[in-house]
Amino acid sequence: MITGASAGRSFDCSRTPCVRNYLCFGARRAFPLGPTAVGMIRICLRKRMRIVLESPSHRRQDEFLRAVARSRNLHRRWASPPSTPAAFTEYLSRLKSAAHLGYFVRTDADELAGVININDIVRGKSLSGYLGYYAFVPHDGRGYMAEGLCAVISRAFRVLKVHRLEANIQPHNTRSRRLVQGLGFRREGVSPRYLKIAGRWCDHERWALAAENWSHD
Ligand SMILES: CC(C)(COP(=O)(O)OP(=O)(O)OC[C@H]1O[C@@H](n2cnc3c(N)ncnc32)[C@H](O)[C@@H]1OP(=O)(O)O)[C@@H](O)C(=O)NCCC(=O)NCCS
Repeated sequence: MITGASAGRSFDCSRTPCVRNYLCFGARRAFPLGPTAVGMIRICLRKRMRIVLESPSHRRQDEFLRAVARSRNLHRRWASPPSTPAAFTEYLSRLKSAAHLGYFVRTDADELAGVININDIVRGKSLSGYLGYYAFVPHDGRGYMAEGLCAVISRAFRVLKVHRLEANIQPHNTRSRRLVQGLGFRREGVSPRYLKIAGRWCDHERWALAAENWSHD
């Protein structure tokens, strides 16, 4: 059990088992799931895990854009996901670079619950990446994103050998803060006017987690 002490909130890993418990289905190759992976690679987690991670692809474009459209109110202040076919294509192109990874979080009923990206992965001395994520209505608030993040983070540390993951979160984005805090991220400080979200330069808190502090698997 990991405890987000300052939030008084705990995150029970037995409910969200991680990468060590992976089973892989339909994979042309098992690991790493990089941007050059051909086709769909699905990662299933046994025990009680309810999510499947999937490599983003064109065949999900319509489903993705419908999910973005119905989640507009959820995302409005916090995230700007691709909302047109051109933007979705651009997103997939970005994932062809080794510096960006993307995962669709799907429910066990095969519905799109959200997206998790690791952006700007830097190799060399810092070995770090930046997390971006958003849920889709009506699957938000049901623990799918926590499970998805648990799986993606485990993979980043254990398989991709990233050393540090950072999430930059607007101070009033309580749901996002609680999510990462529950996974063991620590608040390192505030970066004024750090990212342009929905057309405005916004302050962000830097929340970070290093591989040696990850104990969910
Ligand atoms: C931030 C965001 C991704 C969180 O997604 P979410 O779907 O609420 O995340 P989860 O449900 O996995 O979060 C865990 C919550 O679900 C609860 N939960 C966990 N397992 C659960 C289950 N089996 N059933 C019901 N609830 C569960 C957790 O207790 C936690 O609740 P809490 O916030 O009250 O502590 C979502 O609110 C969102 O898309 N926001 C807009 C975009 C955004 O802010 N992106 C991040 C920018 S930094």
